[in-house]
Amino acid sequence: MAFQGYPILGLLALLGMLINVIAVTPSYDTTSLNRSSFPRGFIFGTAASAAYQQEGAAKEDGKGPSIWDTYTHRYPGRIKDGSNGDVAVDQYHRYKEDVGIMKEMGLDAYRFSISWSRVLPKGKLCEGVNKEGIKYYNNLINELLANGLQPFVTLFYWDLPQALEDEYGGFLSSHVVDDFRDYAELCFKEFGDRVKHWTTLNDPWGYSLGGYAYGALAPGRCSDWQQLGCIDGDSGTEPYLVSHNHLLAHASAVKVYKEKYQAAQKGIIGITVAVNWMVPFSDARQDKIAARTALDFMYGWFMDPLTTGDYPHSMRCLVGDRLPKLTKEQSKLVNGSFDFLGLNYFTANYAAYSDYSKAENTSYITDSQADLSSERNGIPIGPEELMNSMMPPCHLRKPSKTTIELIITIVIFAIFIVPSSK
Ligand SMILES: *[C@@H]1O[C@H](CO)[C@@H](O)[C@H](O)[C@H]1NC(C)=O
Ligand SMILES: *[C@@H]1O[C@H](CO)[C@@H](O)[C@H](O)[C@H]1NC(C)=O
Ligand SMILES: *[C@@H]1O[C@H](CO)[C@@H](O)[C@H](O)[C@H]1NC(C)=O
Repeated sequence: MAFQGYPILGLLALLGMLINVIAVTPSYDTTSLNRSSFPRGFIFGTAASAAYQQEGAAKEDGKGPSIWDTYTHRYPGRIKDGSNGDVAVDQYHRYKEDVGIMKEMGLDAYRFSISWSRVLPKGKLCEGVNKEGIKYYNNLINELLANGLQPFVTLFYWDLPQALEDEYGGFLSSHVVDDFRDYAELCFKEFGDRVKHWTTLNDPWGYSLGGYAYGALAPGRCSDWQQLGCIDGDSGTEPYLVSHNHLLAHASAVKVYKEKYQAAQKGIIGITVAVNWMVPFSDARQDKIAARTALDFMYGWFMDPLTTGDYPHSMRCLVGDRLPKLTKEQSKLVNGSFDFLGLNYFTANYAAYSDYSKAENTSYITDSQADLSSERNGIPIGPEELMNSMMPPCHLRKPSKTTIELIITIVIFAIFIVPSSK
């Protein structure tokens, strides 16, 4: 792999997962794996932590509710143990202790997200800034820096202010674009003197899939006919609308950063997307196509607009009018709107072709005409596939040079961040 001579800012995460994988795959020689096995400058940090899972203090010091507060309290039955994030790991009160633990672990960075409704309780700048919220993040950032850890900040990890969900349906509405941009700008202004790595969104795919196709995550919407227990929603249209607005919100925030803050603050900004490598279920031609299409529907959904200015060809064909169109202006805004790309890589899937073209009802879940699974003939997708899955996901997709340079630095088990060639 082309590590040498390429400036890498890797952020190794999921340390726990790494240890698990090592534990169950004794065939790999990991005894000599240590820091020197990684390129110089590789940054070890914690996995992407979500504010809702860390902070607790859900109603303290002026924080407004987010859709996750609402979801866990309104539908405790939809949470495995009926619990919620009211206290979580109480990082809001115990951040000094947590930073101390990270320091002791020898980490170089902490990748955390800011709770939008903690700094803007009603979601909008014009409705007022919560000074206590700003103070908390200043304290956290200063504590990290004082202990030699770099803050890697994610602006949105799924906890949309409930006020915006109530007012206009959150990410279903294009109104969210301006509100997200204002929120992002507030963060650049308040924290950008010390934060040099900004991620706009963490895993927008998960948000659309979980919140609007399956309805298993907040805000819990999906089509009635899928019989997944959702109250309302349309799995055939809403996921596409939501991701479209995600892309526009991301790109608008990047534009503000680049135009008004980057020169002075000298940080970089990007987006983090999730991708599973897709393995054809069989050698059949249709399964090979299904694997490619499935990759388009998960990864290309975001990366194609970000690198080519339009959605993948397969999605435009298969989704048709239900896929929003990027206008010329939007396409220009989104195309190339990142300094780096973050990848959350968890696993690979088998993809098998299935003909849903004549189905009575549509859903994001079936639009790709690919059924995904994590095992074949009872055998889980395993280490061999995992190794194959290290192949650059863009290999088969005739990517642009930029994308190749980005992808070439993939590190297994790592959430990584690399600067793009501008
Ligand atoms: C670290 O790994 C390298 C090989 O990657 C090995 O030569 C070296 O001895 C290891 N160092 C320690 C302290 O284990
Ligand atoms: C399609 O949706 C309609 C309206 O929600 C529903 O009545 C019907 O049963 C659905 N068809 C299938 C095959 O699920
Ligand atoms: C998007 O950006 C790439 C790389 O800069 C460029 O080649 C491509 O033409 C752009 N797409 C559009 C639709 O402008």
